Amino acid sequence: MLSAADNELLTRTGPDTPMGRYFRSFWLPVALSRELPEADGPPMRVKVMGEDLIAFRASDGRVGLVEPVCAHRGANLYFGRNEEGGIRCVYHGWKFSVDGHCMEMPNVPAAAAYRNKLGIRAYPTREFAEMVWAWMGPARGQPERPLDALPALPALEVGLVPDGHRFVSKKLQQCNWAQSIEGALDTAHFSFLHMPAPKVAETIHPDANADQKRLGWMRDDPLPRFSFVEHAAGFAAGAARNADAGDLYWRISQYLVPNHSLAPNALPGENYQGQTWVPITDTECWIYTYAWNPERPLSEAERAKLAAGHGVLAETGPDFVPLSRRENEYRLDREDQRLRTYTGVRGVSEQDAMIQDSQGLIADRTREHLTPTDAAVVRFRRVALAGASALAEGTLPAAAQDGEAYRLRSGSWVAPRELSFAEVMMQRFASKAGQAPVPINGDMT
Ligand code: FES
Ligand SMILES: [Fe+2]
Repeated sequence: MLSAADNELLTRTGPDTPMGRYFRSFWLPVALSRELPEADGPPMRVKVMGEDLIAFRASDGRVGLVEPVCAHRGANLYFGRNEEGGIRCVYHGWKFSVDGHCMEMPNVPAAAAYRNKLGIRAYPTREFAEMVWAWMGPARGQPERPLDALPALPALEVGLVPDGHRFVSKKLQQCNWAQSIEGALDTAHFSFLHMPAPKVAETIHPDANADQKRLGWMRDDPLPRFSFVEHAAGFAAGAARNADAGDLYWRISQYLVPNHSLAPNALPGENYQGQTWVPITDTECWIYTYAWNPERPLSEAERAKLAAGHGVLAETGPDFVPLSRRENEYRLDREDQRLRTYTGVRGVSEQDAMIQDSQGLIADRTREHLTPTDAAVVRFRRVALAGASALAEGTLPAAAQDGEAYRLRSGSWVAPRELSFAEVMMQRFASKAGQAPVPINGDMT
């Protein structure tokens, strides 16, 4: 349970809120690179944490992220012309660079004092892991944000593997960001939400294959025991369930401040998955979803499967809006719920979206009753609230300057019962925190 004040603190990310300022002290994805496929192509509207912006790819390939309000008389630059190194307002032809600098003011006399001195708010951008990242700290040129104070890009492994080893997408989530990331860290719910219908679950054969085995362990143990390893970017959460012959089945997820989570499923050799939450407003967010394999390129069949929705990746339209969503009740099929699946909703991502949305546009945490299996949720809240509160008192988050701290993996493992979580992490990742090995062909820009 949280107090009403802490619930507000956790969930509100507008520019003048403590959590909003905390988010703005990190790089955040604001678009997929492929949404801006060509230089001088059409600009796109981007809304991030309540701020209406436009993104455009300039002639040199750089991405501008600017407020769309022309400095002359406020015409919207979304309707502008993206041409020769800047976006030009079509009202009277003022033109702005990716840095927000006003490059041309054709209706201003050459001698005017303000000529070439004006600008619009612009945020620095980088591209990494097929996403456009922005740093939305105080506006460029303002004294409180020297450019040399830019944070480090988080060295998420999905961006370090060679091209071809990853698949990146995004999906709209129609609720507040925090309850949605809580859903990802609450790995206990797999024993229910993602199960077959009880009658079907009864027929899971523990010896059929590895997937069936895992499903059986989750079916049979709805009360996983949580352990944690804290690290510079957040924490690894291990949930242990009874497996065969007295062993434990560990599902290990990662929370990386302020808004990333790595999924707990992968055994060594399998594809890893992760998600990054970026609020659009306080009642909607984009979730950037990604899968990668450090050891080999993803096959065409795997790409097709991921594109159609698999694991944390949703089945979406070309606008990245999930086909199953609030408006159509997630295409819930009660017959399917009776006979085949626990929810009647098709797809793990869709089941997650449905249940997270169902907690309300912004979950009311003052009325909940937490249990020991909510341990990762509780820890997430503690870490996020502490980070936002510390920043409000002047302490910048150390993780924002430590990109390497994000080079982590999550995944699952079967281990003898007597091993501690730290020992399990060592067995699974050869690192207590779950650190990924240094990439050979990787490229950090
Ligand atoms: S309003 Fe944009 S140039 Fe006049
Ligand atoms: Fe889930």
